[in-house]
Amino acid sequence: MAIERLVEPTVAENDSEEEKIEISLRPVTFGEYIGQEHLKNNIRLAIDAVKKRNDGTTLDHVLLYGPPGLGKTTMAGVIAHELGASLRVTSGPAIERAGDLASILTNLKDGDVLFIDEIHRLRRTVEEILYSAMEDYKLDIVIGKGPAARSVRLDLPKFTVIGATTRTGSLAGPLRDRFGIIHRLEYYKEPEIEQIINRTAGILNTKIVPEATGLLATRSRLTPRIANRLFKRVRDFADVNGDGIVDREMAVRSLELMEIDELGLDPADRNMLQLMYDNYGDRPVGLTTIAALTGDEASTIEDYYEPYLLQMGLIARTSRGRVVTEKGKSHLKNYKNKL
Ligand code: ADE
Repeated sequence: MAIERLVEPTVAENDSEEEKIEISLRPVTFGEYIGQEHLKNNIRLAIDAVKKRNDGTTLDHVLLYGPPGLGKTTMAGVIAHELGASLRVTSGPAIERAGDLASILTNLKDGDVLFIDEIHRLRRTVEEILYSAMEDYKLDIVIGKGPAARSVRLDLPKFTVIGATTRTGSLAGPLRDRFGIIHRLEYYKEPEIEQIINRTAGILNTKIVPEATGLLATRSRLTPRIANRLFKRVRDFADVNGDGIVDREMAVRSLELMEIDELGLDPADRNMLQLMYDNYGDRPVGLTTIAALTGDEASTIEDYYEPYLLQMGLIARTSRGRVVTEKGKSHLKNYKNKL
């Protein structure tokens, strides 16, 4: 199914409990969205300009990039809401054929927002259709086969694409050039993560003491999705082993149970660091070799594990590959000594 969801963030009956919670936690307005101030200020301005002109033009296409879990999908929902537009959600891999995209585009209405997650994974044939759709709101399609084939141009409604990708590097130049607004989502600051945890606790009717909020924030990899995930697990722990209040002891014990260390690394992160160090010491190692060592896809290492390890200075990128830094080595040693 090429269109995965048509959203306002409403809860459908067949959503799982976790999905229902996930949706209820999503901020809907810029006012509710914590952090990413630079991005919010820029997009708010662009939206205000569209509204003020009120001449039938729509918001320029927006490309959001950055590590997973920082709120690209959430931001797309906020932008659509602030525009007063409907949001349609799909993803690069979900659009298998050019015809799938044609059907999505011809079903849009003026002003709609089309969110394409993992836009770097669009097939080339699909991507080419998107070019003229984004640029001139025209759909070029070929009807028929062989000598009888002819191409027709259909008018499309004025819509806005919001594309999300973990890497702009893997986006074809002509596609990137069609986005008028391009922004990188940054890792959050710890006080922002604390605010997000407190907001989540409020929505889920759970008491959390400031010390526990602080502790969770330091271990959330500066990423809201992880902060919310840890919060939910700690809340479960406090419900089962305590009186439901998340205090420091509940937070510490449940983080220990999940084997999440002081920097927020989990066993899979430490395993990758350890394998790099055990096999290569101070020498650089290539991405595909790291992937072979851990048994993951190279893209998983690049998109999920590596960005935070780089951000924390535990590994470094060199022209000949990745190396474990002094900080990385001492983190591994300290963790072992504590066990
Ligand atoms: N939940 C997840 N991300 C959020 C954000 N940036 N602001 C508020 N709540 C969030």
